[in-house]
Amino acid sequence: MYILSPSVLSSDFTKLGDEVLRAQKAGAQWIHLDVMDGSFVQNITFGGPVISCLRKVTDIFFDVHLMIVDPIDHIDDFVRAGADMITFQIEGAKDPAAVIAKLKESGIKFGIATRPGTPNEVLRPYLKDVDMILLMTVEPGAGGQSYIPASTAKIAELKAMRDEMGLDFDIEVDGGIKMGTVEEALKAGANVFVAGSAVFGGDIEGKVQSFLDVFARYSSR
Ligand code: DX5
Ligand code: ZN
Repeated sequence: MYILSPSVLSSDFTKLGDEVLRAQKAGAQWIHLDVMDGSFVQNITFGGPVISCLRKVTDIFFDVHLMIVDPIDHIDDFVRAGADMITFQIEGAKDPAAVIAKLKESGIKFGIATRPGTPNEVLRPYLKDVDMILLMTVEPGAGGQSYIPASTAKIAELKAMRDEMGLDFDIEVDGGIKMGTVEEALKAGANVFVAGSAVFGGDIEGKVQSFLDVFARYSSR
């Protein structure tokens, strides 16, 4: 199954609840929430309080992407705020195994994210534990950047590792995903697609539908 996870980073924050509901009604299965701390990346976005407010207006699956240092110190907050899945950047964690242990204890789904320059091989020891791997297909830190072409080979390599190990975690791609790049990532093996600037701003319903149309074409093959 292919999943669209629109990133609210490109939404109009004065209408956050309404825009999320519009994406949900149009058929987006997840909502992607980008948490940035001004340290792991330069920008600062939002934290638990915004997510718990949003939780009150929608039951959609919250896909929380932590671009922060020392994620272990913040897991409880995001679980309490209503995250359905937490994905942390491996480069921000001193001891990824400890973060995983903490996430397992929390009972929610979880994943690991990597920057474009981080090799898939660093993920190997953790692959049997995770629900998802998020491959950043731009440098984390901002929406509206262009898909890095070398990402495609990285997606295919991760899929091959997954198959060879007999695992079934999801592969999410994040950054520069739009009409024109989504099919390339999908064909390489991704099945969860974050899209910020390609969904929010303007015709949210029409843009969500364009992604769903692409997914339908591949699902029926
Ligand atoms: C970037 C974030 C992304 C971002 C994607 O650091 O992790 O989720 O919102 O934005 P687009 O789809 O515009 O590249
Ligand atoms: Zn993200």
